[in-house]
Amino acid sequence: MLISKKNLINLRIRKICCIGAGYVGGPTMAVISDHCPHLKVTLVDKDKSKIDAWNSIDLSNLPIYEPGLREVIQRNRGKNLFFSINIKKAIEEADMIFISVNTPTKINGLGAGYASDLKWIESSARQVAQYSQGHTIVVEKSTVPVRTAELIQEILLNSENSTYKDKKTFSVISSPEFLAEGTAIKDLENPDRVLIGGTDQEAIDLLKDIYLRWISEDKILLTNLWSSELSKLIANAFLAQRVSSINSISALCEVTGADIHEVVKAIGSDQRIGSKFLSPSPGFGGSCFKKDILNLVYLCRFYNLEEAANYWEQVLFINDWQKERISSRIIEKFYGTVSNKNILILGFAFKSNTNDTRESPSIGISKDLLENGARLFINDPKVGKKQIEKELELKEGEINQISTGGWTYADDIYHFSKNIDAIIILTEWDFYKQLNWEKISLNMRKPSWIFDTRNIVSKIDISKFNINYWQVGTTN
Ligand code: UDX
Ligand code: UDX
Repeated sequence: MLISKKNLINLRIRKICCIGAGYVGGPTMAVISDHCPHLKVTLVDKDKSKIDAWNSIDLSNLPIYEPGLREVIQRNRGKNLFFSINIKKAIEEADMIFISVNTPTKINGLGAGYASDLKWIESSARQVAQYSQGHTIVVEKSTVPVRTAELIQEILLNSENSTYKDKKTFSVISSPEFLAEGTAIKDLENPDRVLIGGTDQEAIDLLKDIYLRWISEDKILLTNLWSSELSKLIANAFLAQRVSSINSISALCEVTGADIHEVVKAIGSDQRIGSKFLSPSPGFGGSCFKKDILNLVYLCRFYNLEEAANYWEQVLFINDWQKERISSRIIEKFYGTVSNKNILILGFAFKSNTNDTRESPSIGISKDLLENGARLFINDPKVGKKQIEKELELKEGEINQISTGGWTYADDIYHFSKNIDAIIILTEWDFYKQLNWEKISLNMRKPSWIFDTRNIVSKIDISKFNINYWQVGTTN
């Protein structure tokens, strides 16, 4: 989307800025700085504590955990990679600005519960309009509803609140990020594809030039703006749909005697189906899948495509059902009550190799058990006590108002397995695959249970230890 080509031809990208130093902006800019030593890359964020954490000398205090991220930060921070709260300065000097702020689901107003809240995108665009100078290329990195670029363009064109009165121009292009948490650096280093959507060829070429430093040209797909914006939503919707599909079949396997892992192997061997994203689980979590599908449903309804909206909404219904189903199974196995039962939860992050707990299935399942009076002991290799308190809305050691349930942070699994009635595995950390189940089983109170929602322990191995075992998708 070209606003004016003035100044653009001679423009060379030397300084880039990214608004939003979160799970997407942080790793993305770190990898760009690694491959483009000629660029000065500045990440800005309104959250000072986050920027302080990105700047912390001790790299174990970075605000997010991602395998390989520390090394990239160590190589580039202070050289050509900077973290700052000085948004004004970073925008003033930037030739290209990435917008990577969060776009949560709206909680009130029109479209509440479905539509994405674009207030942060809007305020970022206003800051760009106010502080930018000369020609600036604006790149949408955040996942946004179709036609958000139009909103950004309108703000940039019509802003009267500019610090600088000389003529400024903008190009808006879209380049959504497909990285998955836990493998962000790997995904950024070696993406399946990179999308650039827009009509301004020069702006597209300048961004393409950055990616070409480490990504081969055949992986860089050029589309129109709206296809680029929509493709990101659809990629997430398709991935989430696979998880809900396999989870719905996991329930069928449990009652029919089929084994979900055998079914997955059988169907995944068909190249048309493919083997990825077919692992049964307690449901998908993370910041994107639910939000993006809600947004897709909203878009379909907005355009009067009620049937399409209903179709995609089912993916979310199944996901909620899977979580509720697992809580119910656990309670049923204890003859309808977990009141005063000691339960060790293994995993609070929404998947392994991340400290992110947004929409984690562990939250809902833990809350269900707390409401039923259970005493929970929660372990996660990367999620700390404060984060769990925030998600459960219950302080460690406090008693839940509705029941007598409460929770304790369990940093040592062996110590906290003493007198435990059940262990529920909710995140697929490699660490859990190496646990000494014999030692744990001796600590547990009998009759004891393991509920494995991630296929971490083998039923055959566990059968030696006099523990009852339940696994998602197999007959138990
Ligand atoms: C978010 C969205 O969830 C995703 O859809 C989108 O593709 C990219 O942005 P993520 O990076 O995981 O992904 O979000 P988060 O970790 O919350 O980071 C966003 C950051 O933007 C936060 O640190 C927040 O403080 C910052 N922010 C938000 C600003 O700096 N300015 C704002 O106006 C709003
Ligand atoms: C996702 C997309 O993969 C990524 O391309 C996009 O940029 C952001 O959203 P992310 O949410 O970080 O990434 O993780 P992902 O690996 O996709 O997992 C999402 C959820 O699905 C997790 O809770 C995971 O445990 C679950 N999942 C995934 C399953 O339950 N089964 C599977 O087979 C795969």
